[in-house]
Amino acid sequence: MKILMVCAEFAPWAKTGGLADAVAGLSDALCASGHDVRVLLPRYAHLPAPRGTRHTVEGVGGPFRLAELEPDQKAEHAGRRRARPRVFVVDLGDLTGDAIYTGDARDAGRFLRLSAAAAAFSAAKAWRPDVLHCHDWHTALVPVFQRLPPRATARSVLTLHNVGYQGIFAASVFAEHGFAALEQVLPADARASGDTNFLRAGLRAADRVTTVSPTYADEIRLPEFGMGLEDVLDERSGDLVGILNGVDYSVWSPERDPFLPQRYDAKDLAPKRRLKKRLLGRLKLVADVDAPLVGSVSRLVAQKGIDLLAAVMPALLQDTNASFAVLGNGDPAISGELRRLADAHRTRVSFIEGYDEALAHEIFAGSDLTVVPSRYEPCGLTQMYALRYGSIPVVRATGGLADTIRHFDAATGLGNGSVFRDADPQGVSWGVRTALGWYADQDVWSQLVRNAMAADFSWPLQVPHYEELYRSLL
Ligand code: ADP
Ligand code: GLC
Repeated sequence: MKILMVCAEFAPWAKTGGLADAVAGLSDALCASGHDVRVLLPRYAHLPAPRGTRHTVEGVGGPFRLAELEPDQKAEHAGRRRARPRVFVVDLGDLTGDAIYTGDARDAGRFLRLSAAAAAFSAAKAWRPDVLHCHDWHTALVPVFQRLPPRATARSVLTLHNVGYQGIFAASVFAEHGFAALEQVLPADARASGDTNFLRAGLRAADRVTTVSPTYADEIRLPEFGMGLEDVLDERSGDLVGILNGVDYSVWSPERDPFLPQRYDAKDLAPKRRLKKRLLGRLKLVADVDAPLVGSVSRLVAQKGIDLLAAVMPALLQDTNASFAVLGNGDPAISGELRRLADAHRTRVSFIEGYDEALAHEIFAGSDLTVVPSRYEPCGLTQMYALRYGSIPVVRATGGLADTIRHFDAATGLGNGSVFRDADPQGVSWGVRTALGWYADQDVWSQLVRNAMAADFSWPLQVPHYEELYRSLL
C-alpha cells in the first residue's frame, strides 16, 4: 500500500517527545513489510538543507514547495541502517523558525500549510497514496482539506497521540494565512465562541480514528479523559481503535544502543553496573552502586505527574537509601520544585533540566527504577524502553501504562513492574516503596529484571493491526 504520513515530529529529524519515535517506528516497520511509505514534515530551520529535486504542488493556500531530505546521514548516526521511508519537507516561508512548536498562533499557520500541502501532494499525479495517515491536532485538518479541490482520493486515518493538545485558535487564523476557503467545509461543531478546534474538526472528518493504546481508546470516551472531545469520540466509537505503539529496538535496547559506551544484555548485567557507576559520577551523586537509583525522563507537564514524584521525594530520601536522577524540561513550577530538591540534597538528587537524547539513554541504562506517575498516558514509550534496559517501571494504571506493565508478584514470579492506582502522592510513594522492597532481595529482583528485559513490544507485532485497518478502508 502507498501510505503518506503527515506529522509535526519524526525521529531522528524532529523530536520533542514520543510522537517522533512513534511515527518513525511505525513508518519504518511498514516499510520493512514492503509498503511504500512517504513522510511529510514542515521544513524546520534546524533541518539540513534538502538536496533532492524540489517540486511544487498546487492547492488551497498554495503553491507549496516540497523537497526531499537526504536519506541516511542522520539515521545512520542514530544507528538505523535499514530501508527507511522517504521524507519530504514543506517550505514554511516566513513562518520558518528554530523551534518545532512556537506555542502561539504561528503554529496554526505552520500546520495549516503542512496539512494543505499534504492534501495537495496526495492529489498530484506523481504519487497518489492509498492512505493519508495524519497524527495529532497538527495535521488533523488534512481530511478537511480533502473536501476541497484538488480532491485527493486517499482514505484518511487520524491517530490521536494525546487528546490533551487540540489546537484551538481564533477563527481568524484561516484568513490570515490564506486558507479562508477551508472555513466553508469545516465541521460545524469545530467552531465555538470564535475559536476553531483543529482536533475536533479532524475527528469529524477522518475516515477512521486510532489512538495509541486499547485502554486509552476506552478512556477518552469518558469526560475524565476526553478533555471535552468525549462526545465526538463516543459517537465515532465504531470507527475508533486503540493500537499499542511499538519500540524500535535498533535504537532502544542495551545490546545495540548507539548512545552507550558499553552494551549489555540480560545474560550479563555487569556492564549495566558499570554504566550506573559512570552515571552516578557524571551526575555527582553518592557513589554507592548498591543503593537503588530511581530515574525519570519526561516532559515536565501536569500530564506526567512528576510533581507527585517531587512531593514524595523528601520522605523517600529520609526513609530509604535511594537516589534520584530526573531529566526533563517544561513547566517552570515543576522544574523549580525539582531544582530546590536537587539543591537541598546534592548527593542524592540530580535534576538535569533540558532535552538531552544521549543522557536519556544513559539514565534508562544506569537506573534501577523508572518512575512514570502519569495522570493520563495515551501510550507512553519510556516505560517500554525502561523494561528493555532492566530499569523497573513504577507506573500509574492508566492508558498505555496499564496495557504494558503488570504488577509483579514475588510469590509467582510473574509481572514486570510496580503498578499503583491513584495519581496522588500516596500512590507514587506506595509504587516506589513496593519496588524498593523487591530491590532489597537479590533473588526477587533478578527475577523481576529478567521478566522486564524479556518483554517484546517491537513494531512488527503492531504492523498487522495497521494493515488490517488500512485494508478495511480500501
Ligand atoms: P510523551 O510523548 O508524552 O512525551 P512518551 O513516553 O511517549 O511520552 O515519549 C517520550 C519520549 O521523549 C521518549 O523517547 C523520552 O526518552 C523522550 N524525552 C522526554 N523528555 C526528554 C528529555 N528531557 N530529554 C531527552 N529525551 C526526552
Ligand atoms: C504522546 C503521548 C504518549 C505517547 C506518544 C506517542 O505524546 O503523550 O503517551 O506514547 O504520544 O504515541
